[in-house]
Amino acid sequence: MIYSYLLGLFSSILREQANLTHDGPKWIVLDGDIDPMWIESLNTVMDDNKVLTLASSERVALTPSMRLLFEDRVKDSSGESPSLKETLQHPLDTLMESRDSPGNPFPSGDPSPPPVWFNFRSESHSSQAVKRTSQTFRRRTHGWLQNSYVASWIDRRQHQSEKANLTILFDKYVPVCLDKLRTSFKTITSIPENSLVQTICTLLECLLTPENVPSDSPKEVYEVYFVFACIWAFGGTLLQDQLSGYQAEFSWWWHKEMKAVKFPSQGTIFDYYLDHKTKKFMPWADKIPQFMMDSDAPLQRVVVHTSETTRLRYFIELLLEKGQPLMLVGNAGVGKTVFVGDMLASLSEDYIVSRVPFNYYTTSAALQGVLEKPLEKKAGRNYGPGGNKKLIYFIDDMNMPAVDLYGTVQPHTLIRQHIDYGHWYDRQKVMLKEIHSCQYIACMNPKVGSFTINPRLQRHFTVFAFNFPSLDALNTIYSQILSFHFQQQAFASSVLRSGPTLIQATIAFHQMMTRNFLPTAIKFHYLFNLRDLSNIFQGVDSRVLLQQPLIYCHFANGREDPCYMPVKDWEVLKTFLTETLENYNELNAAMHLVLFEDAMQHV
Ligand SMILES: Nc1ncnc2c1ncn2[C@@H]1O[C@H](COP(=O)(O)OP(=O)(O)O)[C@@H](O)[C@H]1O
Ligand SMILES: [Mg+2]
Repeated sequence: MIYSYLLGLFSSILREQANLTHDGPKWIVLDGDIDPMWIESLNTVMDDNKVLTLASSERVALTPSMRLLFEDRVKDSSGESPSLKETLQHPLDTLMESRDSPGNPFPSGDPSPPPVWFNFRSESHSSQAVKRTSQTFRRRTHGWLQNSYVASWIDRRQHQSEKANLTILFDKYVPVCLDKLRTSFKTITSIPENSLVQTICTLLECLLTPENVPSDSPKEVYEVYFVFACIWAFGGTLLQDQLSGYQAEFSWWWHKEMKAVKFPSQGTIFDYYLDHKTKKFMPWADKIPQFMMDSDAPLQRVVVHTSETTRLRYFIELLLEKGQPLMLVGNAGVGKTVFVGDMLASLSEDYIVSRVPFNYYTTSAALQGVLEKPLEKKAGRNYGPGGNKKLIYFIDDMNMPAVDLYGTVQPHTLIRQHIDYGHWYDRQKVMLKEIHSCQYIACMNPKVGSFTINPRLQRHFTVFAFNFPSLDALNTIYSQILSFHFQQQAFASSVLRSGPTLIQATIAFHQMMTRNFLPTAIKFHYLFNLRDLSNIFQGVDSRVLLQQPLIYCHFANGREDPCYMPVKDWEVLKTFLTETLENYNELNAAMHLVLFEDAMQHV
């Protein structure tokens, strides 16, 4: 619900329904964050008056066959006004008293159901009635939601033997994994459990094709595929950084507990992909594409493929094909933006990509403008990308926009509305627009902005953690870049030989920096990432390396403020040193130095 034009929209829908003459039930579903500003204007609709008074003093009365259904996640109520609680309290209390089955909006044999219904999911709320309602909902829907999703997914599979195998496998693996995840591991951002389970289904849907798994396959084959999907749905979301290595721990745990499907013992379970031909696990390292670099491209935009990027790419390509929303979550400067940019640039011509970088000031209206730009009007109220193409919105830094006074990030509600319902409204004409053939890929850094996003939006996305590259990967990235560069510029062989040492020294130095200069509340800028590393190598240029003299000192600029800079030429240095020597000789016992080049290098 986007409340900048809500009342226009809401009042026009209300008026439309009030004017309908038939007495069949009419529902208005209000799906989204409830905030006190607009709920207050609905006060008279929700109490016994059942009348909406508009600013123009027009009055629209609810007819007996009209119902409002509110759907929301109940947030922590600390920021909510007393009037919101009161407004909600009254209908909820009547609801609780009058009904023994609060989850059912269509109770049988009830001649006059109340006009307002709620469908809430809640973690905490101080209003007792809301708490009670939401608990009832949770009890009824929680386990049920997961299983019913899985059950209906399995039901849609074609072959009987596959259905039977999958049912056994879900029971065998999923509850154990969820349990372990709850108690021992941490995902990179908070992800609803149901969404993890959905990811398994989505991955299986991509993997269990008739070519990979013909319908008469033995149960062992289903199990290998299931295991592959399961470790990526769960393990792919786990946090792995300097302080905690949940992916590594997950891998140990898996090796220890899940023995039915054998993994090679070297490395972690995340180092292997499932080979469709042999049904064996093979190292991702074998699949890394050859490095190609455009020598004109700025280094900041170059991507060197590593086994980490290769495996992410594999899954992203699988899921993009299905139109599944995707999200990469990782700290600043780990390479999310360049990686997604590189991947989207290599897609076939069937796709159009629209880049939508978010920042603090992104509003839902501005976002809608950007989202609508690549769309064309089709028949009726339908809109979509031109031709038969598919449009990918690349939302970068998803969690950056401002959180409003009542805890809502308005651009997020627009995206959720689109994913949930496939539509949004024309803001001027207050008319529905159906938006087709679009999908989302998003990135975010869980340490900035609003940190997390609304779980009702988050749940749609398949999440992969994008962790800082391993030592091996760092080595690969910079060796490839450096050796390409050295070849291009025809460096002397002595320089070529020093390449690996240079990289090792840089990486070791980077590690020392990150270990010794930890960010704190005050020194929050102590973040050292791939941007710093890339900046070092960006500077490596033949003019610099072969420059004579290759001397850096803090008095390169003479008597000005000390600053560590390269010496421009011998003459300047010589004049400065001679002067300094003369000064010294005046004040101290004379020192007779002859300043020739070697001596100066020594200084
Ligand atoms: N696989 C890679 N190969 C080469 N450079 C990389 C790679 N991954 C990251 N980088 C470097 O890291 C820098 C930061 O990446 P960026 O995508 O801006 O990070 P994020 O979006 O995660 O904050 C890039 O400018 C790039 O130079
Ligand atoms: Mg970025």
